[in-house]
Amino acid sequence: MVVETQPPFLEMRGITKAFGGILANDRIDFDVRPGEVHALLGENGAGKTTLMEILYGLYTPDAGEIYVEGKQVQIHSPLDAMRLGIDMVHQSFMLIPVFSVCENIVLGMAGRHDLRQTAEKIRELSQSFGLEVDPMARTGDLPVGMQQRVEIVRALYRGARLLVLDEPTAVLTPIESASLMRFVRSMALEGRSVIIITHKLEEALEASDRVAVLRRGRKVATRPTRDTDARELSRLMVGRELESAIGRRHDEGRSSCLAVEHLSVRGEHGALACKDVSFEVRCGEILGVAGVTGNGQSVLAEAITGLRRPADGRVSLLEVDVTGWRPRALIRAGMAHVPEDRKATGCVGAFNLVENLILGRHRESSFAQRGLILRRRAMREFAERTVQKFDIRAAGLDTATEVLSGGNVQKLILARELQRNPKLLVAVEPTRGLDVGAIEYVHRTILGMCDRGVAVLLFSSDLSEVFSLSDRIAVMYHGRLLGPFPSTEVDIEGIGYMMTRGIAA
Ligand SMILES: Nc1ncnc2c1ncn2[C@@H]1O[C@H](COP(=O)(O)OP(=O)(O)O)[C@@H](O)[C@H]1O
Ligand SMILES: [Mg+2]
Repeated sequence: MVVETQPPFLEMRGITKAFGGILANDRIDFDVRPGEVHALLGENGAGKTTLMEILYGLYTPDAGEIYVEGKQVQIHSPLDAMRLGIDMVHQSFMLIPVFSVCENIVLGMAGRHDLRQTAEKIRELSQSFGLEVDPMARTGDLPVGMQQRVEIVRALYRGARLLVLDEPTAVLTPIESASLMRFVRSMALEGRSVIIITHKLEEALEASDRVAVLRRGRKVATRPTRDTDARELSRLMVGRELESAIGRRHDEGRSSCLAVEHLSVRGEHGALACKDVSFEVRCGEILGVAGVTGNGQSVLAEAITGLRRPADGRVSLLEVDVTGWRPRALIRAGMAHVPEDRKATGCVGAFNLVENLILGRHRESSFAQRGLILRRRAMREFAERTVQKFDIRAAGLDTATEVLSGGNVQKLILARELQRNPKLLVAVEPTRGLDVGAIEYVHRTILGMCDRGVAVLLFSSDLSEVFSLSDRIAVMYHGRLLGPFPSTEVDIEGIGYMMTRGIAA
């Protein structure tokens, strides 16, 4: 039970940490009371792990202070953290597979350990917290859920008073998750504190006394859990700055850019992976298509972008029937494509920046004389301008694209597609695997295109991305399209429900 007036066990003040140009933590204030379960919620890349690894002594902050029970402390290593009663279970476990549970638990602790006594103590601890483990089992033989338990028991063994769990349910079955949540409550009842890092709203709501929300390195809010709800938290997580633009752009008066009518497409195994799908995207509008991977989104995107022939139905671009056209013809007709697999189909890894930036355009008059002789100077100048304008970070123009970071490859693909002045952009998982800085850049670029009247068809399995960009949202489920719905009339929970059940909640 948390007494609200109790002084915090932990207080972090003004924590700032940059990695290169990325501010992973930007002046974060954060505190945890004794006996409290505190959720730390935020999208991927928001800075949650960084903040907690600073607390655990794995990173040194660029600025900020840490107080434990009111006294300022310096934490230079996990050992310092443990001495203060702070312990952390990471996203990927740090156990030695050939050692037994027992050996792993005493590993790195000072003094000699009698293994029999240790085993006995582990049994007691794990029983009293409902976290049964066999102290003699070889860690490498245990399933992941069990390995996580071992790490938690290790923290308890070392006497943790504050335990940080980084995305703990990601590796657990629902039953294991429920038992973990029971453990978390029992730990809090003993007056110890738990921080649960998560990007799942339900989890933050279910398990915690308070929720702190991080977005792009900043803490945007802390709420007592009982005073908030999924709607508010999702808005805090995703950000409200884009909200006012949403809904405005979908205007029935605008002309149609892409029309898909009764489209059916076969997948890898010959069965229909996309069944009788119809929708329209208007100029200047973003239509987001959400769905759990494997529900036909990729196949649909491939059929629209000319990578796969539809079995039935029609695709029209600016009122021209382009069904079955090849990618090159579609590009000429005004379609741009940011593909799902950027390394395999988005660019040629062994080519340098110049070559990749003009990929598919090497016959145009600005780059070749009579379509044959390449005008290398013009190509380089064009590449130079583009690299500057799009802030693509590479050692030089002759760098092979395969050595660039994911974010820079994606910028390169966007830059190339944008320079073609498209009328329609089909973007598939455009920010998957990118860091916050690059994600923001990609989002801004897409919104900018849309403001200039480009129609955008966005496929994304990241719901917060779908919500922060789209005017209308559709869901793919078992090859069928649900919606589109105006994004002002649906919420993350509703769309999430449709993604997993195929019907409205
Ligand atoms: N060791 C590192 N080197 C460079 N960038 C990093 C490092 N660790 C994290 N980042 C970057 O800092 C940002 C925050 O990351 P992280 O704290 O892991 O976020 P979260 O845990 O909320 O998903 C991301 O943009 C990530 O790419
Ligand atoms: Mg993380």
